[in-house]
Amino acid sequence: MSKRRILITGGTGQVGTELLRCHWPEDIELVAPARQELDLCDCDRIKSYIAAGSFSAVINSGAYTAVDRAESDILTAWKVNAMAPVAIAAATKDSGVPIIHISTDYVFSGAKNSPYLEEDPVAPLGVYGASKEAGEQAVRTGNPRHVILRTAWVYSEHGSNFVKTMLRLAKTVPGIKVVGDQIGSPTSAVDIAKTVQKITLSLINHDAAPTGTYHFTNAGEASWFDFASEIFRLRGSLRDTSPVLEEIRTFEYPTAAKRPANSTLSHEKIEADYGVNPRHWKDALSDVMASLRASEVLREDER
Ligand SMILES: NC(=O)c1ccc[n+]([C@@H]2O[C@H](COP(=O)([O-])OP(=O)(O)OC[C@H]3O[C@@H](n4cnc5c(N)ncnc54)[C@H](OP(=O)(O)O)[C@@H]3O)[C@@H](O)[C@H]2O)c1
Repeated sequence: MSKRRILITGGTGQVGTELLRCHWPEDIELVAPARQELDLCDCDRIKSYIAAGSFSAVINSGAYTAVDRAESDILTAWKVNAMAPVAIAAATKDSGVPIIHISTDYVFSGAKNSPYLEEDPVAPLGVYGASKEAGEQAVRTGNPRHVILRTAWVYSEHGSNFVKTMLRLAKTVPGIKVVGDQIGSPTSAVDIAKTVQKITLSLINHDAAPTGTYHFTNAGEASWFDFASEIFRLRGSLRDTSPVLEEIRTFEYPTAAKRPANSTLSHEKIEADYGVNPRHWKDALSDVMASLRASEVLREDER
């Protein structure tokens, strides 16, 4: 049986790792080159790699995600988040190969007081958001067979994320200050990967599969403080004590990059077009905490 090859960039990242762990049909071969083999700063290499690869789809989950570092490392952020998508779109357009491109709530300012719709105006607050917005434009204008999937507040059992930071801090400090006036939807990389897989298989199996920009996060809303509280509530079954959490305001925790106050994203469009009904963030978090419990992260914590 000849295999259909799917290129996954960022295969070592949170979303990429979960994409590689998904159960794919037998006739699919996933190709996930490491940075050394496919540097997303190298547009010529991206184009030649895709031209030689006979891919049926490209999933771009690679990105420069260090939001604060991007404020000073502007060139690298733009190369990876904006120019790499230009090259991917250019390399796929003529062959009609679909792109599934992951983007972010940070394209929005956060000033809206209800969940963002796909067509709401973008107004990024920093370099990371601006470079991701440019990457969206590159994909949108460069290859009509695209799905841009915006997500937010991503965590998983791998990589660096808020859940793992909270668990690490709990081992070293008695109290943790957490921002309570930014709202979003904590989203498991496992759930993003399943959604990306569903969309990718639709696009390669059906010429008429819906294209365009979509929002996906887990359901429900939380502040970072709510998120931290739930992490420690779930961890509580392992320990008698939890660190003391203190709710603070954004201005009390200055960062190089500004963050949107409202990161919530509407799911109506992805529900209607792709039948994706995200589960509640607390259910997804419970699963990831169970995975962490089974791994070293929480076992070390128990000692
Ligand atoms: N994390 C979040 O909270 C969040 C929120 C909203 C949207 N998103 C979006 O979701 C997507 C996936 O994010 P994530 O959290 O899975 O990211 P992540 O864990 O930070 O992983 C980023 C991936 O990109 C790769 N990468 C970065 N620069 C590269 C380069 N020059 N060449 C090749 N590979 C490079 C990394 O490779 P190495 O392992 O070699 O570094 C890694 O595999 C991204 O598009 C991101 O913008 C993330």
